[in-house]
Amino acid sequence: MRMVDIIAKKRDGKELSTEEIRFLVDGYTNGSIPDYQMSAWAMAVLFRGMTPRETGDLTMAMAESGEQLDLTSIPGVKVDKHSTGGVGDKTTLVVAPLVAAAGIPVAKMSGRGLGHSGGTIDKLESFAGFQVERTREQFLQQVRDIGVAVIGQSGNLTPADKKLYALRDVTATVEAVPLIASSIMSKKIAAGADAILLDVKVGKGAFMKTLEEAETLARAMVDIGSQVGRRTVAVISDMNQPLGFAVGNALEVKEAIETLAGNGPKDLTELALAIGARMLMLGGLASSVDEGRGRLEEIIASGKAVDKLAQMVQAQGGDKHDVYEPDRLPKAGLTAQVTAKQDGYLAGIDAETVGHASVVLGAGRLTKEMPIDLAVGIVLHKKRGDQVRAGEPLATLHANDERLLQNALQEMDEAFAYSSEQPPEQPLIYKIVE
Ligand code: URA
Repeated sequence: MRMVDIIAKKRDGKELSTEEIRFLVDGYTNGSIPDYQMSAWAMAVLFRGMTPRETGDLTMAMAESGEQLDLTSIPGVKVDKHSTGGVGDKTTLVVAPLVAAAGIPVAKMSGRGLGHSGGTIDKLESFAGFQVERTREQFLQQVRDIGVAVIGQSGNLTPADKKLYALRDVTATVEAVPLIASSIMSKKIAAGADAILLDVKVGKGAFMKTLEEAETLARAMVDIGSQVGRRTVAVISDMNQPLGFAVGNALEVKEAIETLAGNGPKDLTELALAIGARMLMLGGLASSVDEGRGRLEEIIASGKAVDKLAQMVQAQGGDKHDVYEPDRLPKAGLTAQVTAKQDGYLAGIDAETVGHASVVLGAGRLTKEMPIDLAVGIVLHKKRGDQVRAGEPLATLHANDERLLQNALQEMDEAFAYSSEQPPEQPLIYKIVE
């Protein structure tokens, strides 16, 4: 087999065989196929696309390119969750303990934040002493013992994806839907998932800016799931404004704890229940969304959801008291408010701008190596559609550096849009793809 023939075949819009796809993934991983040939192939995919069968084959070849996690020692259907990323998206912090308390084993690997969107692993480090690195056996044992563990991505998982993603980043081929879909799904499959719940974010603060794009990606990933025998459901949810009120690490953890206790923001609670209920269905513990939601609402009301998070924090080296007394979490020394410029309604809160402002404060990173400040961030006081009066506080910025605070305040100036009439309600969940 020759890579040049595979490139030409894709260039001409033909379907590659399973063997050809395996050849190119294996060859790229072991270095026998050079970057320039892989770049040409990725560009051909961008223009020509891939069939569902090809995309499924690419996903499995990448999933099998390195180590794979074997979760079979954990009884039950292991349902993983993945978000395409957003601002204030602390859903995993709520959903993981919540569905674990309902009986779904959650053995989850999460990522760190990059750019304007945050990452679960950074947020969890707000608990002093919390270990995001565990040995494979510690990770599996914790899930067998308490039903939940959330750790950073470890080991040599999907090296083909790591290499290809870095190449796509510098060859203008990130946008190819089959490549995004196989990149995400290969990581979930290598991490041992039996079933997968995808939260595909759409809007100004998301990777996918339009509903059409989000739906295309969701459909491609759900199709891969059925090609490779992993039940997959995608929820397409709004990321035009931040999710909940809090943006920043410890601030988001605090809001997630409030949500697990039943006192969270409406949108975050709604999304967590919608996702959690479908995870229960994927795991065979509920036969309808309503039944799943009912179970989860009972668990929240009973206090078991908060207890499950406390157990997880304790098991991973933190102190469970930080969950019951969230005022013990890191706190910033300075605060300043953004106030409304006029009377009227909030027509929008630009998630990307809020995300950038929180990065300016130090809550996020622009390069992989940048240190972050767990205490800083932004707490909104209003959401889209709310009535406001000129001078009323719209958000509080939490900072540890006066200069950064001033810079972030300047950024936040652009975050709010006003209207004289109440804007039409925007859905939180646009569509379920299954
Ligand atoms: N996230 C991923 O993991 N892969 C992509 O290709 C895009 C987003």
